[in-house]
Amino acid sequence: MQSRWMALEEGKDPSTTVRTNQSRAFPLRVLQFFLIFFVLGLGISIVSMYMTRYFKVQIVAPVAESTLRPCLDEQTTVESWIRPPSNLLHTMNDTHLLWLASSVPRIKTYPFKRVPKIAFMFLTKGPLPMSPLWERFFKGNEGLYSIYAHSLPSYNANFTTSSVFYRRQIPSQVAEWGRMSMCDAERRLLANALLDISNEWFVLLSETCIPLHNFSIIYHYISRSRYSFVGSIDELGPYGRGRYNQNMTPEVNLTDWRKGSQWFEVNRELAVKIVEDTTYYPKFKEFCQPACYVDEHYFQTMLSIETPHLLANRSLTYVDWSRGGAHPATFGKADINEEFFKKIFESKTCIYNNQPSSLCFLFARKFSPNALDPLLGLSSKVLGF
Ligand SMILES: *[C@@H]1O[C@H](CO)[C@@H](O)[C@H](O)[C@H]1NC(C)=O
Ligand SMILES: *[C@@H]1O[C@H](CO)[C@@H](O)[C@H](O)[C@H]1NC(C)=O
Ligand SMILES: *[C@@H]1O[C@H](CO)[C@@H](O)[C@H](O)[C@H]1NC(C)=O
Ligand SMILES: *[C@@H]1O[C@H](CO)[C@@H](O)[C@H](O)[C@H]1NC(C)=O
Ligand SMILES: *[C@@H]1O[C@H](CO)[C@@H](O)[C@H](O)[C@H]1NC(C)=O
Repeated sequence: MQSRWMALEEGKDPSTTVRTNQSRAFPLRVLQFFLIFFVLGLGISIVSMYMTRYFKVQIVAPVAESTLRPCLDEQTTVESWIRPPSNLLHTMNDTHLLWLASSVPRIKTYPFKRVPKIAFMFLTKGPLPMSPLWERFFKGNEGLYSIYAHSLPSYNANFTTSSVFYRRQIPSQVAEWGRMSMCDAERRLLANALLDISNEWFVLLSETCIPLHNFSIIYHYISRSRYSFVGSIDELGPYGRGRYNQNMTPEVNLTDWRKGSQWFEVNRELAVKIVEDTTYYPKFKEFCQPACYVDEHYFQTMLSIETPHLLANRSLTYVDWSRGGAHPATFGKADINEEFFKKIFESKTCIYNNQPSSLCFLFARKFSPNALDPLLGLSSKVLGF
């Protein structure tokens, strides 16, 4: 009890001492307190800065890769949103690619300066033996064209950085002549080219094709045309209507059936129609197999049903079937001279924007690799580039 009392008694005095001590120590404690908070706060903010930086990188990287769009930071301007993909080697499969390519702005006026381009789409097995001629053709016309190449997946293009074909190869799959895989490859080319909003016209070419005129003439001819150049005719006989299969009704009736060259030129509206199609695709895939060569009928028939008023019903690509057989003539070294081109230029008259015209062909095929040197020798005199 005493000790307790003592303690209480003693406690009185010490408590006063403590109180005086406390009041004296107060500013120091507060200082310590704030110092600890300051250090803690600083520590937390530094850590959180690192964390956000780390997570931002983590979040942005996969988005940028998967949609082929620039970083989120840059998406705030319309220019960054419409900029074409800088790397054509995406990892989308065809389902994803066609879906993305089928998206169309609903407001028809572009709210920025858009210079419409021609997409030159090369459907090849591998090498492009005519590339030096094409390089010469494109030179000086940057900003008015873009290039896409589809080849066998096993082929590795080795163009140098100075070439217009450098890194213009798109993810490709095997395409067989006359089979649906050929149309798949063409749709893949169109879909990749549609991802660049500046592409307005789409030309399909092969490795054996050459341009017959300089770039300005070709750009002028295509851009001023009211129609797209899809060869599309109602041919009677075994190689035309004879290839039609009754099972295609009601989507395609016999009178709708069309035939035409595989090598087309279409505008953006028709290109979207081709990539978005799910109506005709299954019918052609199932009921147009060799000896029905689907690349001569599918787009030709489909577009004739959907948008007949937009078709010129002729191809821009010259080809010589006069030698007969299943394949057209291939021209080599010995064929190339001024007379040869004079014959092509004068071979036909046609209708251009509802008027008769003597300029009917912008491209020609088929040329063998050994034709390149004489072509380079003649191009400035005869072809105008
Ligand atoms: C693409 O991938 C999606 C899902 O990842 C799948 O549903 C679709 O069938 C694929 N398409 C093709 C053509 O492989
Ligand atoms: C690319 O490879 C081919 C053979 O595959 C060769 O003939 C050509 O010279 C190469 N081109 C370049 C630019 O290396
Ligand atoms: C094909 O004919 C059927 C019956 O006459 C019709 O309903 C259908 O619309 C026609 N298809 C086309 C693409 O015109
Ligand atoms: C092309 O053919 C279609 C019929 O398939 C026709 O409606 C259209 O007017 C033709 N185009 C031209 C430019 O004559
Ligand atoms: C293209 O060819 C035409 C006709 O040959 C010519 O008048 C024009 O000057 C050429 N354009 C260029 C850019 O070379």
